[in-house]
Amino acid sequence: MHSTILGTGSYLPEKILTNKDLEQFIDTTDEWITTRTGIKQRHVAADTDTTADLATRACRNAMESAGLTPDQIDMVIVATATSDDAFPSTASRVQHALGLRNIVAFDVSAACAGFNHGLSIADQYIKTGFAKIIIVVGCEMLTRVVDWADRSTCVLFGDGAGAVVLGASDTPGVLSTHLHCDGSQHGILYAPNTLVQKNADSPFVKMEGREVFRHAVTRLGELVDETLAANNLTKNDIDWLIPHQANIRIIQAMAKKLDMSMDKVIVTVDAQGNTSAASIPLALDIAVRDGRVKRGDLVLLESFGGGLVWGSALIRY
Ligand code: UT7
Repeated sequence: MHSTILGTGSYLPEKILTNKDLEQFIDTTDEWITTRTGIKQRHVAADTDTTADLATRACRNAMESAGLTPDQIDMVIVATATSDDAFPSTASRVQHALGLRNIVAFDVSAACAGFNHGLSIADQYIKTGFAKIIIVVGCEMLTRVVDWADRSTCVLFGDGAGAVVLGASDTPGVLSTHLHCDGSQHGILYAPNTLVQKNADSPFVKMEGREVFRHAVTRLGELVDETLAANNLTKNDIDWLIPHQANIRIIQAMAKKLDMSMDKVIVTVDAQGNTSAASIPLALDIAVRDGRVKRGDLVLLESFGGGLVWGSALIRY
């Protein structure tokens, strides 16, 4: 038994915050943000929206594209670093909002690599025959957990959600998944739960950007080699790279590592900023809908984030 992607969907909030807008209230410039990150703008959720709302819209969109109804879904896995509640899961809200049966629903906490983790878990459940159709959704409201007075982080993040419907198949879609964690580097990218950690100073995202950047390029480079080797493939076999969208310079480094021209890399960081667990399924959905990623293409998904965690998936779409 294999798993394959049956449908994709996404949701981006209407409101857009440009770099020029940011110049109005923090000490930054469009030029700095563009050259250091590639970001030009990010989407910001409406005050009335929850993370589960964003996820639900993306899931509906993905179910529609797969031609499936709520009664056909066996499991929902939500990857998020910005859950609406400390408990229960955002997945329980999404399950209810989508009108699904009393199926398994849970969250995965793996920051920006959350979608790769969710996809890997879903793939295992399908391979073992425990479930036939699983929705994996990455969703974030990062604009709610950044300190808008901290220019080193607030310019980087955006809100959004992306989803895939994964289904059982005779032919392989998800060829392999690879996940890693280095907990010794936990302190270079995190957002404390200040209700639990009494000594933590603020709940906002804290990042040693330069250090995270260095680890990301090294670990993602290793991960690309590991993924290709596991499938007995070479760089030339990959049709599309869909990377986590944190920084265009990290994305370019991975394209170079794969000897890929940038027109074979799906880039959304300019228009969306870093949407953490949502970035890969958002980029995949855009590339599927605009016709770049076609059935049969070999697609490499890779991500890196706080933990530190990093993960990849090689997919025959
Ligand atoms: O998604 C999870 C994984 N996350 C990542 O992969 C992010 C990895 N890190 C990065 O993308 C980059 O490190 C950043 C974009 C966060 C920062 O870029 P950088 O080239 O590493 O800049 P830096 O942190 O070394 O800061 C350079 C300078 C500093 O000034 P000094 O100390 O050199 O005078 C900062 O104060 O840029 C200054 N700076 C800013 N200036 C204008 C920092 N933020 C800003 C800003 N506008 N928004």
